[in-house]
Amino acid sequence: MTGRGLATLLLCGSLTACGGAPDSTAATAPGERLYALHCSACHQRDGRGIEGVQPALAGAPTVAGDLQPLIRWVLFGERPPALVSQRRASVMPVFGWLSDDEVAAILTHVRGAFGNGSTPVTAAMVGAERRLRH
Ligand code: HEC
Repeated sequence: MTGRGLATLLLCGSLTACGGAPDSTAATAPGERLYALHCSACHQRDGRGIEGVQPALAGAPTVAGDLQPLIRWVLFGERPPALVSQRRASVMPVFGWLSDDEVAAILTHVRGAFGNGSTPVTAAMVGAERRLRH
């Protein structure tokens, strides 16, 4: 088993709970692949999350709404107004260490998949939020 596969197993308890190992997506688009690698262990491959643990990204107002709060949540963990507060058995790590390109690809995937029909995110938009913050 690869290191990544092991990390997935530790995070999820079993590979089936995560919808399969991230390695199996090597031939897919970058955003989908990066989502599988960094996000799907919690939000699941189908974006439906797990009740009481991680919220669904399918149909989430934070995902479909303004880009600024969405980008700032992923980069800095700054809580978006549309994120419903509830007791959850998990917390989300911040992803400021990903590149602008990577965050843009992931968010474009998330906004376009799972029945969400929102506009893509560019690396320039992500870069602008990063510069505003620092
Ligand atoms: C370790 C688990 C975990 C990982 C990995 C993770 N998240 Fe999350 N995510 C959460 C939790 C838990 C919340 C809810 C946080 C809260 O309410 O404080 C959340 C909330 C969100 C929301 C807001 C949803 C809503 O209902 O408004 C978005 C958007 C989001 N995550 C995107 C991502 C993206 C994109 C990635 C990958 C780059 C990612 N998450 C990786 C656990 C995770």
